[in-house]
Amino acid sequence: MSAAHDVTSHYSRGTLLARLRAALAEDGADPDRPSLEALAPYDQFHGRGLEATAEIADSLEIDGGDHALDVGSGIGGPARYLARRFGCRVTGIDLTAEFCDVARRLTQLLGLEDKARFECGDALAMPFADASFEGAYSMNVSMNIADKAAFYAEIRRVLKPGGWLALAELARGTGPEPEYPTPWAASARASFLATPEGTRRGLEEAGFEVRGFRTTVAEALAFGERSRALVARGEKPPHRAVMLIHGEIAKQAMANTARGLSQASLVPIEVLCRRLP
Ligand SMILES: C[S@@+](CC[C@H](N)C(=O)[O-])C[C@H]1O[C@@H](n2cnc3c(N)ncnc32)[C@H](O)[C@@H]1O
Repeated sequence: MSAAHDVTSHYSRGTLLARLRAALAEDGADPDRPSLEALAPYDQFHGRGLEATAEIADSLEIDGGDHALDVGSGIGGPARYLARRFGCRVTGIDLTAEFCDVARRLTQLLGLEDKARFECGDALAMPFADASFEGAYSMNVSMNIADKAAFYAEIRRVLKPGGWLALAELARGTGPEPEYPTPWAASARASFLATPEGTRRGLEEAGFEVRGFRTTVAEALAFGERSRALVARGEKPPHRAVMLIHGEIAKQAMANTARGLSQASLVPIEVLCRRLP
């Protein structure tokens, strides 16, 4: 089985749009006219969901005339958020065809198709010319990618000199081996975790200047606690993307992630860098 098949078969079940529409209806939202806010629990498929996207966006210098690249764009929540907030154009690329279809459909429903568009393709061989984008970001994608040097080099290629890159990922901490499934991988075979130091080094070796680097373990643990407290009160947690996308393995995947965070096996990191000329 290829690495690409490992990724797409983990994420895709073929019924995502129907399940998302049902979830929206159950929340009392109109599935044909969902707002950005109604979609946020489902379309931000990374730790802390919209909270993390908004924080990363706070740290970016984006102009309304910019064109940003979302590497591993999922169903497009982060791209639509940035397009709406900054008025910039965002192009997303993702390996999972079903996610690209759902991303396009949701973007149409929000009337953002002039601003956010989605290509189905591989982050390691992107169908974009050199120096196409003012900036790029990638949220919880690199854990699916074995060849980090090729990943960083390909992003660097399509960025303009001086362009920014924001990277969020789960890194390998000092604790015991993580357990699987996780939200990004069915088994250890499909999971490629770099250490925080390895990520920094890899980016520098690829020609990026690292300008900001932080771990968000405390934020992730606090978010988990808040979510569990809501559930204990009979309310819905703020982040429901893993449940929506992974169905029956979601509970196990989330429990494995929570354990990995508390045992320092998994360390969420956020890196902000610039492409050196
Ligand atoms: C955990 S999801 C995150 C999605 C999105 N970044 C978000 O935060 O909502 C990881 C995504 O990375 C995509 N992905 C994994 N490997 C990829 C590759 N080599 N090229 C493009 N996309 C990839 C998957 O298809 C999946 O949509």
